[in-house]
Amino acid sequence: MSENKKLVEIEHLKQYFHARGTRGKKQYVQAVDDVSFYIYKGETLGLVGESGCGKTTVGRTMLRLYEPTEGRIIYDGKVLFDKDAGISVDMMPYRRKMQIVFQDPYASLDPRMTIGDIVGEPIDIHSLVSDKKERHDRIISLLQRVGLNSEHANRYPHEFSGGQRQRVGIARALAVDPEFIVCDEPVSALDVSIQAQVVNMFEDLQSELGLTYLFIAHDLSVVRHISNRIGVMYLGKLVELADSYELITNSLHPYTKSLISAIPVADPVTARANKRIPLAGDVPSPVNPPSGCRFRTRCPYADERCAKEVPGFKEVTSGHFAACHHLDKVK
Ligand SMILES: Nc1ncnc2c1ncn2[C@@H]1O[C@H](COP(=O)(O)OP(=O)(O)O)[C@@H](O)[C@H]1O
Ligand code: SF4
Ligand SMILES: [Mg+2]
Repeated sequence: MSENKKLVEIEHLKQYFHARGTRGKKQYVQAVDDVSFYIYKGETLGLVGESGCGKTTVGRTMLRLYEPTEGRIIYDGKVLFDKDAGISVDMMPYRRKMQIVFQDPYASLDPRMTIGDIVGEPIDIHSLVSDKKERHDRIISLLQRVGLNSEHANRYPHEFSGGQRQRVGIARALAVDPEFIVCDEPVSALDVSIQAQVVNMFEDLQSELGLTYLFIAHDLSVVRHISNRIGVMYLGKLVELADSYELITNSLHPYTKSLISAIPVADPVTARANKRIPLAGDVPSPVNPPSGCRFRTRCPYADERCAKEVPGFKEVTSGHFAACHHLDKVK
């Protein structure tokens, strides 16, 4: 990681969607609500939380694939979006720098296009080459970079395994020489046996190319090794963020504790640091989230204050942030 220089920052980011099937009364899915964090250059920030908590929405909103409802997005010191100040820059130059690898390698590749054209498309969009030979060479070198070869260029997605397709998705993201990649659960749809290979490839690419990642996963076991720091989301809110080892061995928030206790433990340090805390009940709807702390309907420590006041996201110890009124009581 380069000397603590921030590459991407989001401040008070909100993303509300119109709720489907709510005619008449306007209702919103509060998919992301007042989330702030930053990612250092060359860092991997892991983002975890149960399905539906807003991880994908954070990733896509950061890239402005969705226009934020509120908040600020800063990239390499430049404000890309600021609702209050009325700033909304043209994203075209930034589309090259900020890429995404999608969760589902089956749905994200056009079945009618060859692998070569899928990888070549962003090269064409951004006019990165001057002739056909250069284009061809660039595609082949990208395929090789992700462990595929020149013979794969003329084939179609259906001829590939899930792991190979995800490699194609990664080659496509790399085609424009990005600096920052949102990796949206890139291994969740893959066989457990090949997940580690693909995660290792992300790590190798990062050190070769100096990339910065937001690495999204629904469980901690996938991100704990690849991430420098990890953020935990619950129902549209960031509830905790810390250095990875600190988060795993010294978590503060009751929700994080329950997630950690669900990891199958191979190492005794983690086992000792965390007793099992079962998570009761279902996740409430983001259309009508609980007042105050959104975790209160499932939290064993909840009291009246938790129903009234939204807990602030505070730096508890250096670099370790958490949002909870009763950290002193949480064991
Ligand atoms: N385009 C959309 N329109 C309406 N609701 C959406 C849209 N995208 C996501 N949501 C809702 O926002 C919430 C967060 O979704 P998402 O960001 O996909 O969560 P995650 O990636 O953590 O599983 C969910 O309740 C989801 O149904
Ligand atoms: S603020 Fe209250 S409900 Fe929320 S996590 Fe802390 S103790 Fe639990
Ligand atoms: Mg998602």
